[in-house]
Amino acid sequence: MRMHTLFLSLALCAVPAVFAAEDPSPQHVKWMKDTEDLQHKIRDGQDVAANAKSLAALYKDIEAYWGKKSEVAAKSCKDSQAAATAVATAAAANDAAGVASNRKLIGGACRTCHDQHREKVSEGVYKIK
Ligand code: HEC
Repeated sequence: MRMHTLFLSLALCAVPAVFAAEDPSPQHVKWMKDTEDLQHKIRDGQDVAANAKSLAALYKDIEAYWGKKSEVAAKSCKDSQAAATAVATAAAANDAAGVASNRKLIGGACRTCHDQHREKVSEGVYKIK
């Protein structure tokens, strides 16, 4: 009987911790809005080199937030910085194909992180998971 209780306690301890999704800080929401804004400007061909540089800088800040929390998020921030820097270089060299291919990489990194860490609550309302 005592053994049974012991096993039961062990089993309960082994239940994986449930991580509740949390509301993002106003800072995080602002980062995301700025990210989207810069990405749209780059897509629309507005001052591409300068906006891509700003995007790379923005991802440095976002990486500082996520760095120790999640490897997936940290990697997507690093990938975004590299791709945004490559967009800036390509734009400065009038290399449209280079801009296009690296722009896709930025979009891919948004998706990777969102799949892992963004929880949709309702239309336009998200939590961090
Ligand atoms: C490092 C992870 C990560 C990356 C990379 C990332 N996001 Fe997010 N994003 C999140 C998380 C987590 C949320 C939910 C929390 C929030 O809204 O701040 C979110 C929310 C958003 C929102 C909703 C903001 C709101 O609450 O109103 C937008 C828009 C957005 N992301 C756009 C983008 C775009 C565009 C990119 C790529 C250019 C991108 N994100 C890259 C993690 C990321």
